[in-house]
Amino acid sequence: MRYGDALLEEIRRRTDLVQMVGRRVKLVRKGKTMWGCCPFHAEKSPSFKVENERHAYKCFGCGAGGDAFKWLIETEGLSFPEAVQKLAGEAGVALPQYSPEDEQRETRKKTLYEIVDLACGFYESQLRETPGREARDYLKGRGLDGAAAKQFRLGYAPGGGQHLIEFLKSKNVTQDDMIAAGLVRVSEDNRPMRDFFFDRLMFPIADARGRIIAFGGRGLSPDAKPKYINSGENTLFSKGFNLYNFHVARAAAVKAGTVILAEGYMDVIALVRAGFAHAVAPLGTALTDDQLQLLWRTAPEPILAFDGDAAGLKAAHRAAHLALPHLKAGYSLRFAFLPAGEDPDTLIRKSGAMAMGKILDAALPLSEVLWKAETETHDFSTPERRAGLEASLREIVSQIGDSKIADYYRRDFDEKVFKSFKERKPRTYAGRPRTAYADRNKPAYATAGVSAALKQSLLARAAHAGTGKEAARKVKETELASLLLHHPELALSQGELVASLPFQDPSLDRLRHELLNLAASGSSLEKPPVLTHFTRLGMGELLTRLGQAQDNPSQDPLAAPETEARFLRAAGDLREMAEWEPERARAFERLGHEASEESWQDARRLLRSPGE
Ligand code: UTP
Ligand code: MN
Repeated sequence: MRYGDALLEEIRRRTDLVQMVGRRVKLVRKGKTMWGCCPFHAEKSPSFKVENERHAYKCFGCGAGGDAFKWLIETEGLSFPEAVQKLAGEAGVALPQYSPEDEQRETRKKTLYEIVDLACGFYESQLRETPGREARDYLKGRGLDGAAAKQFRLGYAPGGGQHLIEFLKSKNVTQDDMIAAGLVRVSEDNRPMRDFFFDRLMFPIADARGRIIAFGGRGLSPDAKPKYINSGENTLFSKGFNLYNFHVARAAAVKAGTVILAEGYMDVIALVRAGFAHAVAPLGTALTDDQLQLLWRTAPEPILAFDGDAAGLKAAHRAAHLALPHLKAGYSLRFAFLPAGEDPDTLIRKSGAMAMGKILDAALPLSEVLWKAETETHDFSTPERRAGLEASLREIVSQIGDSKIADYYRRDFDEKVFKSFKERKPRTYAGRPRTAYADRNKPAYATAGVSAALKQSLLARAAHAGTGKEAARKVKETELASLLLHHPELALSQGELVASLPFQDPSLDRLRHELLNLAASGSSLEKPPVLTHFTRLGMGELLTRLGQAQDNPSQDPLAAPETEARFLRAAGDLREMAEWEPERARAFERLGHEASEESWQDARRLLRSPGE
């Protein structure tokens, strides 16, 4: 092996595996260990754990497991030496030098990304050439010209079953790699492999960094079955973790202030062409939790656009319920309903971008949609039916994870019920407590378990820990902001993360926002023009506070990979602090008025977290 064990161990030790995995998998802390839904197989409840102490990840569901190197190999398609080089760079570990001859002998293996991109280019060229004639006509029939095809890298997968395979062979791609990239079907009973897609119009799907990772393919004839085929799950592509056009929409959403979720590929294309670049779509499945989180990382109130018919209403209802457990202060959803039978694609073609804009502007808030779903088609003429409505509303409130927001919903529904029945204000809906707090049917231990003195001391410690953590959080936010000022290019290379930084300090938040605006507008992200820009925006004082005044440009002591690593680490720290704080506050609030064994355990656990 090229690298010694001690060296590899050193790199593993210095790599923040939790942070790295956390970029792809939403991880939640349980005790000392971070858990998430396994990215290597489809699952709904987390059986995938990551531990920094052991430098390892492991899935108890499918058995996938390994260290930081394996992670990069599996998820980014790097070769082992590439993974070592990347992590060594980030961790600041020097690697032994090799002669140019050594380097040359290591013929560089094509990454899976490159292979999928090759396939994308092949499909594109087929669309332009003779085999793509019918597909070109089809596109024209749907109002899309060559420019649109180029913009979305649309392509044509020819029929026959071997064309892509032959092409990739000519580019020295191995059969194993074709399979790993999800481009071919392995066939049983000794028949040859076949192209995964044939005789289909191809929609390439990119990841958050704009790299093509998969395809959706539409049959050309009206009775093609199925209408769309999507790449299967593989190491590059996970349907539930990605959104069509996300890499473009993320930047556009900064400007637009929102992001639009449509149902299909053609809808997104029509929206983008009509000037709504901040449009995305799921990939052949209903909206998932993870996609919802992706949307929230781009904008606080994504607009979900649905067909106004029964199926669309049902899908909207489903999405609304999916969101309830995850609602946070400032984060919600809005719902835009199109006329029955229309989708954004057909509406824009028929009535134009303005009509679409009006529908988006008229989008309803989540609470309104939930209310409508419960009330619109029903008749509440009897007391029994009204009681039924109240029960349904209570059930909705009980699904809301955040207790503050649950309160607001409860009040909002109360008011709505009151207004619509013009009667005595009904009693409030005592929603069930958060699931995390177990269930209230269990008898509370009253004060038996926890003495008043103990409770007092715990509350005092909590208050103290709270202020300490707050100070630490300020320091962390300042560190991140000053890193961003030193290295504005982070807004591009780590745009998603930058957009999601939970800054509490409004001036730092503004700085981040303006920087993302700059990045989205394609302006230079060199430090001097960025500083000039901020000064012009009247943020000179902040720059001084961050030790970044323009007449005193400080030296830049960090090399690029180290900067990224530092930034990622700090961002991870901040996120942990941000997630921990409200939980702590809630736990102690609860302890304040309910001295049960459970609330005591909760509070004690949270006093230790995170990182203690
Ligand atoms: P729709 O059936 O609403 O189609 O599917 P559409 O987007 O309006 O497509 P066109 O306009 O007829 O071409 C919406 C999305 O659901 C997925 C695709 O991602 C599609 O864009 N889908 C649909 C499938 O994955 N498979 C199917 O067979 C149908
Ligand atoms: Mn359509």
